[in-house]
Amino acid sequence: MKFTMTRQGGEKIACDCLVVGVYKDGGMSPGAEAVDQACGGAVKALLARDSSAGSIGKMSSLYPVPKVAAEKVLLLGLGEAGELASRDFVRALEHVASALTSGGIQKAAFSTAGIEVKEQDDCWVHRQLALRLEGATYRYLKTKPSAKAPQKPLRSVHIHAASMRRDIRKAVDTGRIIAEGQALTRSLGDLPPNLCTPEYLARQARVLARSDARFKIRVMGPTEIKKRRMRALLAVAQGSTLPPRLIVLEYRGAAKDRRAPVALVGKGVTFDTGGISIKPSHAMDEMKFDMSGAGSVLGTLATCAKLNLPQRVIGIIPAVENMPGGNATRPGDVVTTASGQTVEILNTDAEGRLILCDALHHARQYRPRLIIDIATLTGACVAALGHHASGAFCAQADLLHEIIEAGRAGFDRVWPLPLWDDYQSELDSNFADMANIGSRYAGATTAACFLSRFTGDIPWVHLDIAGTAWYSGKKKGATGRPVPLLAHFLIKDAEA
Ligand code: BES
Ligand code: MN
Ligand code: ZN
Repeated sequence: MKFTMTRQGGEKIACDCLVVGVYKDGGMSPGAEAVDQACGGAVKALLARDSSAGSIGKMSSLYPVPKVAAEKVLLLGLGEAGELASRDFVRALEHVASALTSGGIQKAAFSTAGIEVKEQDDCWVHRQLALRLEGATYRYLKTKPSAKAPQKPLRSVHIHAASMRRDIRKAVDTGRIIAEGQALTRSLGDLPPNLCTPEYLARQARVLARSDARFKIRVMGPTEIKKRRMRALLAVAQGSTLPPRLIVLEYRGAAKDRRAPVALVGKGVTFDTGGISIKPSHAMDEMKFDMSGAGSVLGTLATCAKLNLPQRVIGIIPAVENMPGGNATRPGDVVTTASGQTVEILNTDAEGRLILCDALHHARQYRPRLIIDIATLTGACVAALGHHASGAFCAQADLLHEIIEAGRAGFDRVWPLPLWDDYQSELDSNFADMANIGSRYAGATTAACFLSRFTGDIPWVHLDIAGTAWYSGKKKGATGRPVPLLAHFLIKDAEA
């Protein structure tokens, strides 16, 4: 989709639909004010008639509107003037974005002049605007041809802003590019598990690698994985007829000698039945999203390239399917990980940490300045934080702070959970260096403690996205989180 900016008043922009903000108690944004003046008071009259028009996310349309170039004007409720919180602005944007992208409107305009969001700057407002509008154009069509793309889809958005500063124009570009990366992540997550296999993920990584000369890719199969002694990863894969893949995709946006790279490690379980510790069948289909960490790594790398980020980022994706079967791992099996530490696999459904421990160990080989892993790791994290925040685990306070800030900047929020050594003894085993599960409580933390044993002294963040990577219920599907968070983190990090 094309975004353009202008300082021309919104009322003069010829388009199918112009969006302006209105407030409770009849307040108008400067854009709404200008429309009202041009057409002789129709906005004011509507606000007087309908006292709910200013409620957050409410949309009231006006047409025809005399002396206004737009076919129709949409008044978007923004609540109390001066009291607009980030979450409410995002909610209002989601409503209007879905109205603008459902077909019929090809050319839209949005007046952002005078719209202020508490604790955020103009760049944030414009980044979110582009992110949410572009994001709403995503459609899953791959296996549902009957759900055709809308007739007359939205093609362009003209933004009437109070200022055309360079940083604001850049914010619009950034928002759009992040949404495109997020769409890649969503499309991979939405695919059924018979199509999105470990090999399919590898193929998509290759397609991405071909899109830009700065990418370098290496895909390992069972033989090379064995050679690297990644027995924990292999233990998860061995119940499936599909061979595992270890994908290493490097974005080289800066010279090798400039600065050590950031490593992103994403859990790529293309389907998680639980293995021999099999899951209940209710909603098991949702376990196709268990590769969302992997998908978010690919979406973020695509974003890095389009943003021309001047740094190196290495994506590492262990891709497997977790199935029961005659050759599957048994509860009680002990395996030796690539790091040399042994693990007693007490529960084959705690498979994410098994593939990640070998991938994290592999990541150390690149001497990254920092490792971030992204995984739909535990139901316990969903129990703790629900669907709004991803769980963040990090022993370095300043790094944790940067991650929380990046989440705020992308409105893709995280909240910290403890990673204290007090929990480590939960993993004691009589038969190996550690067990792969704790006794019962604090499951998100014991999983993080397990991973911490494989990162050495490299600064490391673990993101548990089990509650944020997909929507259940009517909106069932991938969210593309935490691509906005990771993109904002890397943008900021590249400036440092
Ligand atoms: N992929 C699941 C985590 C998950 C569960 C994500 C529910 C989203 C919703 C993971 O592999 C898993 O099965 N974890 C177990 C760990 C347990 C056996 C210690 C869990 O959370 O139940
Ligand atoms: Mn599992
Ligand atoms: Zn899993």
